[in-house]
Amino acid sequence: MASVQIRGIQKYFGGTHVIRGVDIDIEDGQFAVLVGPSGCGKSTLLRMLAGLEEISSGEISIGGRVVNSVEPKERDIAMVFQNYALYPHMTVFDNMAFSLMLAKTDKALIKERVDKASSILGLGQLLDRYPRQLSGGQRQRVAMGRAIVRDPQVFLFDEPLSNLDAKLRVQMRAEIKELHQRLRTTSVYVTHDQIEAMTMGDRIVVMRDGVVEQQGKPLELYDRPVNTFVAGFIGSPAMNFLPGTMVLNGGDIAVELADGSRLPAPLRASRLGPLGGKPVIYGVRPEHLRLGSAGEGMRAVVSVVEPTGAQTEIYAKVGGTDVIAIFRERHEFRAGDVIHLVPEHGHTHVFDAESGKSLLGE
Ligand SMILES: Nc1ncnc2c1ncn2[C@@H]1O[C@H](COP(=O)(O)OP(=O)(O)OP(=O)(O)O)[C@@H](O)[C@H]1O
Ligand SMILES: [Mg+2]
Repeated sequence: MASVQIRGIQKYFGGTHVIRGVDIDIEDGQFAVLVGPSGCGKSTLLRMLAGLEEISSGEISIGGRVVNSVEPKERDIAMVFQNYALYPHMTVFDNMAFSLMLAKTDKALIKERVDKASSILGLGQLLDRYPRQLSGGQRQRVAMGRAIVRDPQVFLFDEPLSNLDAKLRVQMRAEIKELHQRLRTTSVYVTHDQIEAMTMGDRIVVMRDGVVEQQGKPLELYDRPVNTFVAGFIGSPAMNFLPGTMVLNGGDIAVELADGSRLPAPLRASRLGPLGGKPVIYGVRPEHLRLGSAGEGMRAVVSVVEPTGAQTEIYAKVGGTDVIAIFRERHEFRAGDVIHLVPEHGHTHVFDAESGKSLLGE
């Protein structure tokens, strides 16, 4: 096992600047998830870690050793890809044993390693099969087995579950997490799925356009997003954003929406000076709204009600803005009904309308 340090990394493809100064520290044994929209540079960064892509500038260390000019096979890492890349003409056993055979590992040791990995992954009965005789989930497990047998210092995963159907993805997600709890091998996992990131990562790195927007523990990102991008990306359904203006409401700071309703802002009144009249975005997650009575919170007109059984999702309009609210209890509202949505104290956010940066914690 090993820690991973990424320092001031830049990457140009010709004249295109795709990684624009990235710093990430991953502790020994951690499961770090790189998440962000398509094209933000996740795979490029992972491939630089693996040594498959040259670094334009900056430094990458694995286990305290700078690996910038170390060959991929000397880096002691194992990578699991989206398309598994199993050898179709080889059995499950041979697919898993292949890298060890190439490294001329002792036959008995190969058998021992493959047996151990296949029992961890529940592949014991399938060792003589060929990839075409396996289900998608089983193939994905073989791809992981191939990484495990090498007992590397670091696992790298690039969207390993994206070829699986939704149900299998959830199951494999839990399996990979369990595997990590068992082996504790430092892992870097790339996905564009924020739910995968939230449920699997000890540490999440949110990227956009080649830069890191925020990194931290999953719930830190959920509770204290530094900007509207992270706030909108982490959490599902996404955080509601309402445009407004900062005002003084009695002795407290509030955000006044276009319809005149005032929502308390989690900022000290002494901060109004520079912020008074400033255009801001008020943020509140669907799960942090409750129903109030007339005059409370914000007035909303119901557009759609979706009862999922476990909860009720209400789509509504506050002025011209779409808002989603989620309630644990059941409600029989109909389109056109007027309701009052009250943000829960301690769960609201205020962002600068121009920069998108959070104004909390300043
Ligand atoms: N070999 C290459 N030559 C030129 N541009 C490239 C090359 N590889 C990637 N890019 C560009 O670099 C940017 C980042 O690509 P990358 O594959 O790292 O994104 P990603 O975050 O993994 O996206 P996805 O979620 O779609 O896999 C993209 O704009 C892509 O077009
Ligand atoms: Mg990618």
